[in-house]
Amino acid sequence: MTAKIVVVGSFNADLVSYMERMPRPGETVHGERFATGAGGKGSNQAVAATRLGADVTFIGRLGSDVFANLAYEIWQAEGVNHDFVSRDNEVATGVAPILVDGAGENMIVVVLGANLRLRQSDIDAARDRIAEADLLIIQREINLDIVPYALRTAKELGVKTILNPAPADGAARETLELADILTPNEIELETLSGGAAEDLVAAARALLTRADQTAVVTLGAQGARIVKPAETAVVPTFAVDVVDTTGAGDTFNAALAVGLAEGMALPDAVRFANAAAALCVTKPGAADSAPYRADVDALLRSAT
Ligand code: RIB
Repeated sequence: MTAKIVVVGSFNADLVSYMERMPRPGETVHGERFATGAGGKGSNQAVAATRLGADVTFIGRLGSDVFANLAYEIWQAEGVNHDFVSRDNEVATGVAPILVDGAGENMIVVVLGANLRLRQSDIDAARDRIAEADLLIIQREINLDIVPYALRTAKELGVKTILNPAPADGAARETLELADILTPNEIELETLSGGAAEDLVAAARALLTRADQTAVVTLGAQGARIVKPAETAVVPTFAVDVVDTTGAGDTFNAALAVGLAEGMALPDAVRFANAAAALCVTKPGAADSAPYRADVDALLRSAT
């Protein structure tokens, strides 16, 4: 069965500098390499889910500049449906200057531009497509009024949702309540919980307001922790050589969505997502480093 997924989210042109170590404030360091690539958490998730075999529709907004071409190139090459992408004549396509150090860790600034002008009418236009989907994924790199609107629309239509609360700052509790699954990383979880909780499980549980809500907290090299109101479990990941962690969270979210939409049990979908994210970090770039299904299946087979 082909999973049908709708991704509402951002596209950014990633402007990536690779260096041995990050500069400190006020310091200049030499970079080793520079690359421009397709990024944005939403588009990265759409590309990754398509490479994993899903039928994906992306809803977002681009500017009318040359950076928008990077989006169309990758969507067309990979087969991401972009019927519901609108263009803005006044504001530039989102951009993300990114620094990646020798250990593959990154620092990212997003200048969201056209992503912030996504409108309710863009969601309304795709209502029938959302109704046909198995799952809708959304993040927080867009006009933030749209996040609860899209989640409510999916709920009305009986479609399950994943909210990847990234970036996490200023996320309203009422918005978190609307999602079926929340997927913060540890830093986002700390931001969402105000750093108040005693431990990770307590912090994640504090976000859950319904018995049927789940948090899946990504832990990098440790894998991911599933947190439900009454149970919790860690799903370990796969040891790989890390080149660039950019886009690993996006690949994880995409794979989790694909796994669940295909009917996998949650721990199996998280293991599938860990495998996809592990492969993603072995390559440079964001959308470009998302793995194809055959490679993820091969890694899972080799580990059993
Ligand atoms: O998650 C990685 C992404 O974050 C990058 O592609 C960048 O564009 C920012 O959105």
